[in-house]
Amino acid sequence: MSDMAHAEIDSEKRDFIYLATGAVAAAGVASITWPLVAQMGKAADTLAAGSIEINLENIEEGAQLKTLWRGKPVFVRHRTSKEIAEAENVDMSSLPDPETDNARLVAGPDGKINPKFLVMVGVCTHFGCVPVGEAGDFDGWYCPCHGSHYDTSGRIRKGPAPTNMEIPPYSYTANNVIKVG
Ligand code: FES
Repeated sequence: MSDMAHAEIDSEKRDFIYLATGAVAAAGVASITWPLVAQMGKAADTLAAGSIEINLENIEEGAQLKTLWRGKPVFVRHRTSKEIAEAENVDMSSLPDPETDNARLVAGPDGKINPKFLVMVGVCTHFGCVPVGEAGDFDGWYCPCHGSHYDTSGRIRKGPAPTNMEIPPYSYTANNVIKVG
């Protein structure tokens, strides 16, 4: 079952907060850890079972939407041309967890990959903190808990995290709509 939801924007952080229908609004989600927001709104079992639809048209270039899926934060970033170029022009041998940028994206209904939108589980693969966007040495995400730096594809580049941030199962249901889960 899919829930179209409403979004809020924290203009200072340029992050959207995208909450499943019926969830209680959360302000100031510039969180470091992820213990509580998943508890709000719908019952955990409802969230766990559901999928969510996200309209990409609502996410400006350079902005990131945060939502919840199965109790986990999901980031949807509308990447800039610079961020895409940085993600694509990487020496694979320099990556702790080698993965091309394309391998971390999903094709749209036309069969083509749109590199503008990166969708991933916003959880650090070290001990589960929520990384901060537009930060770190690689212009991607930075986890302040123990200093892991992720690039603009969400790949680990420096620090203790062992693997890239996870890509959730998702697909395009229309040119500008994805379904996660
Ligand atoms: S939890 Fe992110 S670096 Fe340790």
